[in-house]
Amino acid sequence: MDLGLKDRVALVTASSKGLGRAVAWSLAREGTKLVICSRNKDILEKTADDIFLGTGVSVFPLAVDLSEADQVEWLMDETLDLFGRVDILVTNAGGPKPGNFTDLEEADWMHAIQLNLMSVVRLCRAVIPSMKKNNWGRIINLASVSVKQPIDNLFLSNTIRPGVIGLTKSLSQELARYNILVNAVCPGYILTDRVEQLLEAKSKQTGQSTEELKTARIADIPLGRIGDPGELANMVAFLASDRASYITGTTIPVDGGMIKGLM
Ligand SMILES: NC(=O)c1ccc[n+]([C@@H]2O[C@H](COP(=O)([O-])OP(=O)(O)OC[C@H]3O[C@@H](n4cnc5c(N)ncnc54)[C@H](OP(=O)(O)O)[C@@H]3O)[C@@H](O)[C@H]2O)c1
Repeated sequence: MDLGLKDRVALVTASSKGLGRAVAWSLAREGTKLVICSRNKDILEKTADDIFLGTGVSVFPLAVDLSEADQVEWLMDETLDLFGRVDILVTNAGGPKPGNFTDLEEADWMHAIQLNLMSVVRLCRAVIPSMKKNNWGRIINLASVSVKQPIDNLFLSNTIRPGVIGLTKSLSQELARYNILVNAVCPGYILTDRVEQLLEAKSKQTGQSTEELKTARIADIPLGRIGDPGELANMVAFLASDRASYITGTTIPVDGGMIKGLM
């Protein structure tokens, strides 16, 4: 299937590693020009080089901390200076700190709100004018299955990510008339550094080995395995494409069947 993504311009945030990097790769394979970002410049530049060498598309790495409003503003100014437009925005960020209610302090809440909610608001605000002008746009917000089924020990994710879904749905209503489609994609349990770190944190807390914890998590997944980042990226590339022209306002899990609810 030709996704019609050649020569589109995409900004994929938090994309030096893990899910964001997989999304950047999958768009690049379709010929999409890219801006990628994250905090660690060396890792980010290595990812940009790898994608360029592997696909030949233009990839611009911009080092920013997405929890800082002025750095998001700089990222957007640079991106719009480079390309004059953004056709596809994929919002992603580092995961919020794990913990239950009593483990979290005021500063943890404020940081997670900046990183996981306000960065999405700021990025959307910056890309919408050029999308409106071109009467074409795709915004895909990466969230988590925590928006449908709270995850043990991830209080910040369970509380703040549903705000991203409210934003996604509301924006989809407001922007449909400009042919700007806005959707959310929710990873379940997909093997990345973040997942390894969460397993290690839980192992220290409970005394169980990371292998035991992994086996217990897999027992909850009907497909019987942890997902691969590329499997999530395939969904994002489809939603970004011309082929997804009648899909907006949805929240789509990519979770191997893990969510038990009906909706
Ligand atoms: N993997 C899963 O199964 C899963 C499931 C549900 C939700 N999620 C969520 O999906 C997101 C991505 O997770 P992942 O598994 O891909 O994690 P990962 O492998 O740890 O990758 C995180 C990426 O985000 C960047 N990043 C982190 N904090 C940042 C910041 N403040 N500003 C800019 N970039 C930042 C990292 O680079 P730097 O550290 O250099 O900045 C890295 O490129 C997270 O929010 C996570 O909670 C993941």
